[in-house]
Amino acid sequence: MKSIAIFGSTGSIGTHTLAVIARHPDRYRVYALVAHAQIDVLWAQIRQFSPRIVGVADPLAAVALRARLHAELKDTQHCPEVVTDPLALAALAADPLVDCVVAAIVGVAGLASTWSAVCAGKQVLLANKESLVAAGQLMMTAAQASGATILPIDSEHNAIFQCLPAGVSPPDAVLKLVLTASGGPFRSLPLSEFSNITPADACRHPNWRMGPKISVDSATMMNKGLEVIEAAWLFSMPPDRIEVVVHPQSVIHSMVQYADGSMLAQLGRPDMRTPIAHALAWPERIDSGVAPLDLCAVSGLQFEAPDRQRFPCLDLAFRAIEQGGAAPLVLNAANEIAVAAFLDHRLSFQQIPQVIEATLEAALMGTEPAAPESIEQVLTQDARARTLAHRLLTKINPHPENSTPATESST
Ligand SMILES: NC(=O)c1ccc[n+]([C@@H]2O[C@H](COP(=O)([O-])OP(=O)(O)OC[C@H]3O[C@@H](n4cnc5c(N)ncnc54)[C@H](OP(=O)(O)O)[C@@H]3O)[C@@H](O)[C@H]2O)c1
Repeated sequence: MKSIAIFGSTGSIGTHTLAVIARHPDRYRVYALVAHAQIDVLWAQIRQFSPRIVGVADPLAAVALRARLHAELKDTQHCPEVVTDPLALAALAADPLVDCVVAAIVGVAGLASTWSAVCAGKQVLLANKESLVAAGQLMMTAAQASGATILPIDSEHNAIFQCLPAGVSPPDAVLKLVLTASGGPFRSLPLSEFSNITPADACRHPNWRMGPKISVDSATMMNKGLEVIEAAWLFSMPPDRIEVVVHPQSVIHSMVQYADGSMLAQLGRPDMRTPIAHALAWPERIDSGVAPLDLCAVSGLQFEAPDRQRFPCLDLAFRAIEQGGAAPLVLNAANEIAVAAFLDHRLSFQQIPQVIEATLEAALMGTEPAAPESIEQVLTQDARARTLAHRLLTKINPHPENSTPATESST
């Protein structure tokens, strides 16, 4: 029985993970659940999965959850311990009773627990790409030292993992990793209409149902940029051998191109339960609850080069990984600030890349940026980049009240 801790259990990845686990009570036991503040969702999860420990990052929400547990589950075997202190939350990822950590917190907020799990040599099912973008070198070095296994559940990286058997030889047998991208909701929206884009429009992804931050990242294609950086670290691949191809049907989740002319692809429905089930059971295979792909029902498979003018975030991400050092970390921090401001109607959709570019320029000032040498340095540099991004945001958009159209439009 594998003992699992899910960090970000109330989010899109967290709930999909629990849906797969619920199908296999003989294989998996939920030891810990961690969320930020959504205690109603957490409550339902506690009732269904009876975890031993529950982490709630927001202290007020933790107080409310404790009160509810006290009133309804006190003195029963189903009453979990509640932790809220940041150090205790990070330590939970290294708990000796945990075999597998699902890293599904959104943003750099997931860094401390992912780092803790990696340093403790856990099996880490990684959805939280931002921690690898911010601290890729440190994470991969720590995983090697501790013996941690990082299994990607981002669908693209999971597809590449499936198409790239360990020990492919010689090392240059792999020519390229090809990451597919749906193109998001604005792939064919006239550029002249971009100024009308609202947060609701950006969160309406054509193929995937995801949390708000990654939905906006998909709409700007920064998500693909972050994935390029994630792939570079996970598969030790130079960025110039990682290609992004727009594939609107989201049937092929990514591909590996080999020197002999072969191209291996992983296909499936756009449903995160497939990569999650793959990583949970690896190297075995289990039922995920996802219906098999019906090839005859797939209308066709289209591929096109990404439109770099429409999606400047993609080039910003490529530039950051090529620059190296602290650049990806700054890119990620500025993106988190800009996306949060857009979701909060304080920034327009087209200003998101402007804030990121301005922050990169101001933070790095044309110098060779130094790579952080410890997680503490990552957190310090991340905090600095956020402050800078906040400052630049108010310069770029001095009138936040006019940032997005007053009425929600549709695309
Ligand atoms: N969704 C997808 O299909 C998908 C696919 C590939 C990769 N990913 C990656 O997976 C990660 C999660 O994405 P998502 O779409 O699942 O996001 P989401 O739906 O917004 O869920 C985020 C989760 O993180 C928790 N959280 C946020 N801040 C926290 C904090 N400070 N401490 C503890 N928990 C915190 C949230 O708790 P509350 O609910 O209490 O706020 C929630 O459980 C992201 O890195 C994303 O890029 C997602």
